[in-house]
Amino acid sequence: MSTQPTNRRLTLTALSRKKAAEEPITMLTAYDATFACRIDAAGIDCILVGDSLGNVIQGQRSTLPVSIDDMVYHTQAVSRGVEHAFLIADMPFMSYRDNVTAANSAQRLMAVGGAEMVKLEGGQPVLQQVRFLTDQGVPVCGHLGLTPQHVHRLGGYRVQGRDQRVREQIIKDAQDLQQAGALMLVLECVPVGLAAEITKQLRIPVIGIGAGPKVDGQVLVLYDILGLTVGHVPKFSMNFLVDGRDISAALSAYAEAVRNRTFPAPEHVFD
Ligand code: KIV
Repeated sequence: MSTQPTNRRLTLTALSRKKAAEEPITMLTAYDATFACRIDAAGIDCILVGDSLGNVIQGQRSTLPVSIDDMVYHTQAVSRGVEHAFLIADMPFMSYRDNVTAANSAQRLMAVGGAEMVKLEGGQPVLQQVRFLTDQGVPVCGHLGLTPQHVHRLGGYRVQGRDQRVREQIIKDAQDLQQAGALMLVLECVPVGLAAEITKQLRIPVIGIGAGPKVDGQVLVLYDILGLTVGHVPKFSMNFLVDGRDISAALSAYAEAVRNRTFPAPEHVFD
């Protein structure tokens, strides 16, 4: 095993350059070493160890029961399979409720799990934690729009930002997260125009899921793109394991579709 960091590893600087060059960033979730290795080999830029593992691995109804121990375990597994991709791990529900808890969670995900960035959900209530983590040298990714950890407060998995008040709040949250030090932002289930406006305003890469094509990159849940999802398949997703492809070909087809902007298509977008 090499003790040197590999310079073939994608960095945040390289991802920022992609935004500047208007070159779409590709991201997928993964939860284990084997899939991480396949995703990496398909040349996908970023792997997110999502707390969606609560749904797709654990069979939970939401992401709320996912613990920091679960996230560390899966992040460790994924990191063993990754050579090139930039590795992001979700901070699970309540694991960033104050600065000290957030720092402990980030320490475990990065120092033990091997993550290179942590992602947390929400706007104004988490700005202090984003600032604190940033000051400690932790790269932070924000997550706005439909934030699954707030599913009960939001009244379900619904598109966010269709009305003016919420739209303005999401724009302000995005600006404030960047100001607090966030280096990337995931926007989930928001109207295409809102995502485009935020992407134009921010310096940091904006990655969409159900946010239309006018963002800096796309992320999807691995099991959705392999047609494995049990029950409801989100409108914004697409099964790439079709037309006789094997799993590696499906992963490459996803990357290619994001890069040549054929995904997301109009049927995957919210107005
Ligand atoms: O947990 C997850 O998989 C996520 C993505 C859907 C963005 O947060």
